[in-house]
Amino acid sequence: MSTLQTSPSNAPLSTLMRDGSRAEHTAAEGSSYMASLLDGQVNEQGYADYLLRLRQVYAALETVGRELAATDPLAAAVHDPALERLAAIDADLDHWLGSIGPGSTGRTDELDSPAAKAYVERLEASREWGGLYAAHHYTRYLGDLSGGQAIGRTLDRTFGLNGKGIAFYDFAEVPKPKPYKDGYRARLDGLGLDADQKARVVDEVKVAFGLNQAIFEELSGHLAAYRR
Ligand code: HEM
Repeated sequence: MSTLQTSPSNAPLSTLMRDGSRAEHTAAEGSSYMASLLDGQVNEQGYADYLLRLRQVYAALETVGRELAATDPLAAAVHDPALERLAAIDADLDHWLGSIGPGSTGRTDELDSPAAKAYVERLEASREWGGLYAAHHYTRYLGDLSGGQAIGRTLDRTFGLNGKGIAFYDFAEVPKPKPYKDGYRARLDGLGLDADQKARVVDEVKVAFGLNQAIFEELSGHLAAYRR
């Protein structure tokens, strides 16, 4: 195997997923778009452009998830309608695009984002095996329930939002992320995958992080225009 692993391959799947993506996670935290956003240096258009990309990603993640969970036990083990983010993203877009007014880039239909397109294509391809889908599900939703919670609070403070425009980070149906995440990891660990299958899932988690990183890089290219 070409990748360095900090856990033995017989470790629980959730441990392998977390440890196997540690370097990618650190890279995502250090992206200049994220750093600028959390530092209050990205304007409304800059955040809306991120949400527009996430809208495409979650539309695919949630459509594929619903379909796959009906037939694939691995997808069914992670799929949970309580996590769905699409309506929250749309509500947030109303806030952010509404505050920009006419002349903004508009909704997602004409969005020109090679990074979002590549991410959607990979999500579509995860229909091949529920383990691949689970890797994408984990990367987005467990992140949203973890660091995402702090990101939402920082945005609230930085933009003086009083809770408006950050529905994306508000999981009304998951009031306590910690026990939810513990249960989620237990479901992953109970899937009974063999070492090769686990390695395939971990590789896909890394791919998923890379696709998120590509979105940040795309947005980082516009930081001068987004300056607040
Ligand atoms: C500035 C950006 C970010 C910050 C500050 C951040 C912060 C964190 C923190 C503090 C945790 C651990 C929370 C806990 O122990 O419950 C965490 C977990 C996680 N984050 Fe992030 N994160 C960021 C970006 C991302 C991105 C872009 C992704 C992927 C799209 C991501 C995916 C994850 C995942 C999957 C976990 C769960 C790890 C596990 O316990 O298995 N994070 N993040």
